[in-house]
Amino acid sequence: MALIELHNIKKVYGKAEYSTVALNNINLCIEKGEFVSIMGPSGSGKSTLLNIIGCMDIPSEGEYRLNGQLINQLNDQQLSKIRNKTISFVFQNFALMQNFSVYDNVALPLFKRKMSAKDKKEKVVYYLQKLGIADLLKKNVSLLSGGQKQRVAIARAMVAETDIILADEPTGALDQKNGAQFMELLCQLNEEGKCLIVITHDENVARYTKRIIRIVDGTITADRKAEMAQ
Ligand SMILES: Nc1ncnc2c1ncn2[C@@H]1O[C@H](COP(=O)(O)OP(=O)(O)O)[C@@H](O)[C@H]1O
Ligand SMILES: [Mg+2]
Repeated sequence: MALIELHNIKKVYGKAEYSTVALNNINLCIEKGEFVSIMGPSGSGKSTLLNIIGCMDIPSEGEYRLNGQLINQLNDQQLSKIRNKTISFVFQNFALMQNFSVYDNVALPLFKRKMSAKDKKEKVVYYLQKLGIADLLKKNVSLLSGGQKQRVAIARAMVAETDIILADEPTGALDQKNGAQFMELLCQLNEEGKCLIVITHDENVARYTKRIIRIVDGTITADRKAEMAQ
């Protein structure tokens, strides 16, 4: 059983003559621990696909199984539960809560968890230390450099300890050096066994991943695993 299984997925936005077919006939399996990039022109359906995989949206047709569980017909509350348990996101520009501390930002995914305040703090500090930013704990995120912000965003994605981390053009707003650093951090996470799926426009970013899926007009046109270095 694959971690992520999409079978004949179609996604249509809007109704009748105003409708847009964003995805059509998507068949895709992603196993535990894979490191995948999704590439394609603007408007080709990349974000739609990632949102479906991330249980932020449901397909119009077809079957989506996550860990064997059929996702299609779940309601918002059920989807939110699954997201909280299984999936973390890194958004473009990182979507940090401005004017909140590093601690508050990283602790956010633990908000709904039944954990003591002490355990939460320990976990947050553990991941901040891992990323070398524990000294920034109390700092307001608006005062951080770009490189520090990306570490906060990754710490926030790590703290929930989900099997899957999804990122929609995470390096889009970064310069080359920060983009490369960001991808190095994702590589480390992948080595620890996380399944990572990253949308990117940038071939240099995709090169860090082990499988590249290309989408054009809502359909997969190529799906290639990188050759293993000997
Ligand atoms: N919420 C929405 N309502 C209507 N159309 C949408 C919506 N989201 C995306 N689309 C359309 O679906 C297609 C795919 O969009 P998207 O998945 O955002 O592409 P990408 O991320 O590759 O740029 C586009 O034609 C876009 O305009
Ligand atoms: Mg997009």
